[in-house]
Amino acid sequence: MITGIEYGAVTEKDESLPDNLVCTADGSISARDSATGELYHNRAGAYLEALNNYIRPSRWQWLIEEKPGEKRRISLFDGCFGLGYNSFVLWDEIVNRRALLDTVEVEAVEIDPGVLAVLPAVLSQDCFHFMSSGIIVDNLSCAELADDQSVRGRTLLEAFQWLADKQAGVDLGRAKIEIRARFERSTSFTLQLYFADLRAHLQALHLSKIAAFDFVFHDPFSPSKVPELWTIDIFQRYHKLLSARATSRLLTYSAASAVRGGLQGAGFSIYRTMAVGAKTGGTLAVPVAWSDDQEEHELADGVVLPLADEERKKLAGRSGVPYKDPNLCADRRHILKCREAEQHAMRAKLD
Ligand SMILES: C[S@@+](CC[C@H](N)C(=O)[O-])C[C@H]1O[C@@H](n2cnc3c(N)ncnc32)[C@H](O)[C@@H]1O
Repeated sequence: MITGIEYGAVTEKDESLPDNLVCTADGSISARDSATGELYHNRAGAYLEALNNYIRPSRWQWLIEEKPGEKRRISLFDGCFGLGYNSFVLWDEIVNRRALLDTVEVEAVEIDPGVLAVLPAVLSQDCFHFMSSGIIVDNLSCAELADDQSVRGRTLLEAFQWLADKQAGVDLGRAKIEIRARFERSTSFTLQLYFADLRAHLQALHLSKIAAFDFVFHDPFSPSKVPELWTIDIFQRYHKLLSARATSRLLTYSAASAVRGGLQGAGFSIYRTMAVGAKTGGTLAVPVAWSDDQEEHELADGVVLPLADEERKKLAGRSGVPYKDPNLCADRRHILKCREAEQHAMRAKLD
């Protein structure tokens, strides 16, 4: 949770930053979570992490080519929106390349409305300048914050500044913010940002959302700290949300065997994504197994990699036992205990 205290610099403390933000090695800003003590992003770079673990391996450009004659639309489920990098770097890439897209739709879930206070600082960074000044808002709605007319025609950055100012002192605990915007009268961008618990949100998702998404970006704090957000049961829900196309995919920064075991158990095929900083790389999970030709194409440029033998071995062993939470409401300690018990039983069997 962003509390406005307790943040320290990752590299050098940048005195020009508010106290609640830190500067990562690529110069982009991040924050530290007061409950888990974790940074919101990899120390090597918030922007870099979004680019290498999410946007590049999403192969969003290929998806447009895959839909000739159809409306050129990209649909993303952003699980744990935080400072918004994963969605905003996707938007940034799309506008910078002037990609021929009709619509880009994002449904995002975040538990902490406190992030709204930080988003203007995120969008003010040079790396987002073209996007946050070039995307123009047509409509912003949020039942808890009246007066949405005043942001019509404003830039994305101005709209988020308006939200940050307006939300102070308002309880946005279960609010939904919807932004409709466009870039150069060609591509329309929509963001539906739900302030909610991810498990509750997934449980309540409407049937119309089945197979509705091209991508899921899954970005909670680490599995050892919040195992309840990394269970096979969440991944089964994601599998249903993704369309049954060879271009559909889930991306996450985690390479933990328990996570990959859960994804595999939910029906995904698993690959590795590029390393960011000291980390070995994240995970790409595809809901529809690739043909040999597609796999060759995907693995050709090093953005997506096959699992190493060592990773496969770990996945097949006790480390690959997933976290489980069938009703999406179990207590964190219970989830950890059950996994441990399953691992012990597995060892006893092998002995
Ligand atoms: C690692 S940060 C996400 C970084 C973010 N994706 C970005 O690009 O800036 C994890 C986020 O998960 C949120 N979170 C924690 N528990 C959650 C829950 N149960 N449901 C939804 N979001 C949660 C935190 O508030 C935090 O913003």
